[in-house]
Amino acid sequence: MFKKITNLFTAITFVAVTSLFAFSASAQTPIVIKLSHVVAENTPKGLASLKFKELAEKKLPGKVQIQVFPNSQLFGDAKELEALLLNDVQIIIPSLSKFDRYTKKIQVFDLPFLFKDTKAAQSFQSSKEGQALLKSMEDKGLIGLAYWANGMRHFAANKDFTVPADIKGLKFRIQASDVYESIMKAFGANGQKMAFAEVYQGLQTGVVDGQENTFSNMYSMKFHEVQKTIVETNHGILDYMVVVNAKWWNGLPADIKKGLTEAMNEATVYNNKISQEKNDEARKSIVDSGKTKIKILTDAQLAEWKKAVAPVYAQFENDIGTDLIKAAQSHSTKK
Ligand code: LMR
Repeated sequence: MFKKITNLFTAITFVAVTSLFAFSASAQTPIVIKLSHVVAENTPKGLASLKFKELAEKKLPGKVQIQVFPNSQLFGDAKELEALLLNDVQIIIPSLSKFDRYTKKIQVFDLPFLFKDTKAAQSFQSSKEGQALLKSMEDKGLIGLAYWANGMRHFAANKDFTVPADIKGLKFRIQASDVYESIMKAFGANGQKMAFAEVYQGLQTGVVDGQENTFSNMYSMKFHEVQKTIVETNHGILDYMVVVNAKWWNGLPADIKKGLTEAMNEATVYNNKISQEKNDEARKSIVDSGKTKIKILTDAQLAEWKKAVAPVYAQFENDIGTDLIKAAQSHSTKK
């Protein structure tokens, strides 16, 4: 009898101890959050992603673990949005040019020469209309948490050129953007949609003759080593939307969501502070490398680029909406 009681007692103790262990183990298991992007680490987006990790893990100690995958290591352009919807990755930060399958309205950011500089774009992004765009894909399962800036875009090619007439017939790598396809057509050139990770090889092997991007992306991916000329056209912005899977995000406990939101807001401020600096640094490194010539346009030459792409607006105004285009434009005329 006594032995039976002892055995029962041992069994109860064993169950209690193991469940206590199981409980404390589960209480301590952090939520693993995968963040994937396609650029190098020493870029505005690369550095801001690491800053987000640092801040989130500091604000939510032991509760979250942010795994950052740069350089298309986990998913490249072609797969990352699908992977996010499948919850195979929880945070991605695609360029605003890559959302046209999910919403036509975001195409506003690709309209050529719409923003006079990155400040004007940021001012629009923080406006009522810009903030509404963060929520415009919720019915497709995507929520935008923030905009991150990279910088102004420029054209580059493996030949000498100055004005649009010089690039007639050339093939340019473009992002997955219908607006950019039309832009290249307006120049009499061909736009070829290609994932970012494939661009260097595409340029090197002559699959494409040129591309357009920011100085930071060109330098960090060594595009300047396989291009002869960069024309500083400033024809558009290359900015990002940090997006999450809506179902995953909405299912997070309130304290985790709060901590992640705070970390995201601080990482956004950091990103937008360093983006200009990173692009200036990259521009200088390209000049110093002596491998590519950077051309600055005269007003008359710039006017030729602007005139050539003016018809693109009419092609997209129904999809984007004239009110949204006007709202975005107003940030470039504002003092
Ligand atoms: C590109 O595809 O050229 C860019 O969107 C890459 C990036 O994320 O900056």
